[in-house]
Amino acid sequence: MSNQYGHFDDESREYVITRPDTPLPWLNYLGSDEMFGLCTNTAGGYTFWKDAKLRRLTRYRYNNVPMDLGGRYLYVNDGGVVWNPMWKPLKTALDRYECRHGLGYTKITGEKNGVEVEVLYFIVPGENVEIWRTRVTNKSGSKKDIQLFSYQEFCFFEALNDMTNYQRTYSIGEVEIEGSAIYHKTEFRERRSHYTLFACTRAIDGFDTSRDAFCGSVHHGLHEAQVPAKGKATNSKAFGWNPIGSHQVSLSLEPGASETMSFVLSYVDHGDLPKFKAPFVLNKQKGKEILAKYSAPGVVDGAFAQLKADWAGILSNFQADCPDEHARRMLNTWNQYQCMATFNLSRSASMYETGIGRGMGFRDSNQDLLGFVHLVPERARQRILDIAATQLSDGTCYHQYQPLTKKGNADIGGDFYDDHLWLILSTCAYIKETGDKGILKEPVGYADKPGSKEDLLHHLETSIAYTMKKRGPHGLPLIGHADWNDCLNLNCFSTEPNESFQTAGDVKDSKAESVMIAGLFLYASREMAGLYDWMGQKSDAARMREQYAEMLAVVEKEAWDGEWYRRAYDAESRPVGSKENEEGKIFIESQGWCVLGGAGADNGRAKQAMESVHKHLYTKNGIVLQQPAYSTYHLELGEVTSYPPGVKENAGIFCHNNTWIHLGWCLLGEGERALEYYLSICPSAKESQIETYRAEPYVYAQMIAGKDAPVFGEAKNAWLTGTAAWTFVSVSQGILGVQPQYDGLKLDPCVPKAWKSFSISRRFRGATYEISVKNSGVCKGVKKLTVDGKTVAGNVIPLSPAGSTVRVEIEMG
Ligand code: GLC
Ligand code: GLC
Repeated sequence: MSNQYGHFDDESREYVITRPDTPLPWLNYLGSDEMFGLCTNTAGGYTFWKDAKLRRLTRYRYNNVPMDLGGRYLYVNDGGVVWNPMWKPLKTALDRYECRHGLGYTKITGEKNGVEVEVLYFIVPGENVEIWRTRVTNKSGSKKDIQLFSYQEFCFFEALNDMTNYQRTYSIGEVEIEGSAIYHKTEFRERRSHYTLFACTRAIDGFDTSRDAFCGSVHHGLHEAQVPAKGKATNSKAFGWNPIGSHQVSLSLEPGASETMSFVLSYVDHGDLPKFKAPFVLNKQKGKEILAKYSAPGVVDGAFAQLKADWAGILSNFQADCPDEHARRMLNTWNQYQCMATFNLSRSASMYETGIGRGMGFRDSNQDLLGFVHLVPERARQRILDIAATQLSDGTCYHQYQPLTKKGNADIGGDFYDDHLWLILSTCAYIKETGDKGILKEPVGYADKPGSKEDLLHHLETSIAYTMKKRGPHGLPLIGHADWNDCLNLNCFSTEPNESFQTAGDVKDSKAESVMIAGLFLYASREMAGLYDWMGQKSDAARMREQYAEMLAVVEKEAWDGEWYRRAYDAESRPVGSKENEEGKIFIESQGWCVLGGAGADNGRAKQAMESVHKHLYTKNGIVLQQPAYSTYHLELGEVTSYPPGVKENAGIFCHNNTWIHLGWCLLGEGERALEYYLSICPSAKESQIETYRAEPYVYAQMIAGKDAPVFGEAKNAWLTGTAAWTFVSVSQGILGVQPQYDGLKLDPCVPKAWKSFSISRRFRGATYEISVKNSGVCKGVKKLTVDGKTVAGNVIPLSPAGSTVRVEIEMG
């Protein structure tokens, strides 16, 4: 399968783009430890260390014209013909262009008039070093004299100030140049002890560090830059204004000859070394060591080989061979890769998130863990503790925190009364994956009580207690500022256009209630009961079950609308998401969570609610969030009614919540529906309609425009979305049915009847389970389980010692 812009290369785990003018910039990420880069298929993007707001190394202007402009550019001047191998910014027509987005790297190759330039961008695993490995080859029949220029613009680290406070930033830029290295040292003389190194592993023939000198003047853009056009660097030294890094490399290549060099971009933490060698002269020791290291033969290639090996290792924890090619390639490669990105970046930096607005989200990061925990469990452990430390002692949470400081960010708003419950889901998922119940005893403390040392289990209990306590007139949980649906603002009443819906209003005496939180509570309290069972704490388990039962009774009594579960009660206790409403009669989230929480299981309501979703909300491009879409602004409902019909929370297809319905179908044993629904939002399956879909075909998008929008089927906000983690859960645990449990690996697939066989390789607590499934035409049900040739009763594989490989066969029927 392919489209006019590219295709999957499943074998090499790459998406290959063969035309640069994709419908939207198609993004990839570099880095998975501390240093990260955004890199589009035309090399657009920027690099930061840990925190896209507080430690941004290179500049990027969002929503530029053209949209994606600024990045890791190379310019070629070949006998007066000037071009970029990545097509932008010059957009000179190329004889050949190819971009391969791989796992943690992007390789772009451009060719013109017999000169081929291949650039491989990646961040060295475990180091704060970004490499642009550049190979120039003369494929023509005659000798070529080529001038090559690198280009990127430095950012002054704190990105918000950098892009707004020009009265200051135009006067503070400072650089030094020594040999082939450019040192960006703005603010180093005062409070910073870090700088950015941009260097070339080969001797250079010139440089520029002033953007105006490189471009020609303040009136010239990157697409008409004079230095590459003239083929001669000006050796400019920036003083204020906009410092850049550009190296000139003169190459003389015989036919067939090629030369390879790397440009090295590094965040250098200067540590305690003396800052200066002489007044105004930076102590360059660390930068020099880095450049020397990566200039040595084989080091760059070795680092790249390490990156590939790391990914192969990480992905080998879960691989599956199933009959559907889309599910297969997404699950085995791209979905897990996307889970790494959401784990690292939460919702901070993408083509839609500027890296200055949001840090790590409390609910977002907890959910992201669900798709990450099997990849690198130790990192998940630390994250859970970091998140828990931003909970307050009353049970509420900082909605977001900055990754650099790990401190809660109150500007973003708070009192989202679902936040704390997600911590239970992530913690239980982590313990099931690892068996490490020791995490529950880790001292974490509460954000409003510095020095307090309550353990993680205390946080989970506080979370349960908070929801039980904070309930409204129907006995349902209060919604506070909003629940998962950030835009359902039932206590906001905002009439002021300049105010953020996310912070407006006062929830103090609010009465508005959320059925979705009730469903989520059912799920979370049952998780807690299971956890206590396993730990042998019977009375605690019983206590959780009592609370579960109490909430379930309220849900069944107060939330059922006749054909589906209502969504909420507003501040005046009127139903939201009910047939009584004119618009917004049925919502997706309460169906998903009530069903997953076990509501309607014995009285047929679960099935009926799901059928209502099918009837009213399902489309070929996914399930819309609610219907009918709101056509006017409702003061009492908030931001959800502010969006045009068919986009975002106003009846857009919010892919994240679709997955809860996918899991719901699995619970009900409807394998055909589960797969059909999954494919409706699966980007790989959108390749044939890419002109409509527009976004990256290799990662899930947050939103696809719903049927009320004129652009039904158009995707936005790819990459940083809870869809990544939840789809991994719905496909691996729901459809393929591989479910980590506290004391074994449960197998409970729910597949289309036509799936005759499939297999999974799963590393779990150090042992490898090679699972093969035979199906004689059912959707669900395991009739036989054999482990290393021995029949085992039930459908849970008992734990095997770490290091062992276990053959598992199951027969469905
Ligand atoms: C965004 C937010 C997430 C929220 C969702 C629905 O994805 O990051 O926190 O739950 O929108 O509003
Ligand atoms: C907007 C988005 C929503 C997000 C919220 C918080 O309302 O539509 O998805 O969660 O902002 O930033």
